[in-house]
Amino acid sequence: MNRREFGNLMGLGMIATSLPVAIAACTPKDTVSDAPADAPAAAPAEKIDSKPREDGFAALGTVADLDTNGYLSKKAFIAGPVIVIRDPANADDLIALNSMCTHQGCGVEWKDDAFACPCHGSKFGTDGSVSAGPATEPLDPYEVMIDGDLVLVKAT
Ligand code: FES
Repeated sequence: MNRREFGNLMGLGMIATSLPVAIAACTPKDTVSDAPADAPAAAPAEKIDSKPREDGFAALGTVADLDTNGYLSKKAFIAGPVIVIRDPANADDLIALNSMCTHQGCGVEWKDDAFACPCHGSKFGTDGSVSAGPATEPLDPYEVMIDGDLVLVKAT
């Protein structure tokens, strides 16, 4: 084996060993959790039928998950990215907003009782209005309801 063949073999080996790590790092996470990184893994979520019903509502998650995590969110929801919380002013009501930041499209998180964008610091009120820039446009609301043990968001 000459020096060139050895170099090619080593390069191929490095690519092969780093590929799984690169793929894992680039895989989007659809649901965000506030759980610390060292927390034990949660039990796998029950499979939910998220096809829209005749009334246009589709299941986003369970009430139990909403109450455990403090919010539900899904980037790939049928109608668009969505985040749902219980209304801090009245826990019987839910609030659902489009979670795509109106500044440059990052995913807004529910943190410290506010919708906050991790990219450039915009904040939004529970009605979706901008409370801190650089975003200037509000987050759009979705209709949301509880039916049994499911949280449903208007999808169509
Ligand atoms: Fe949200 Fe810039 S993308 S503040």
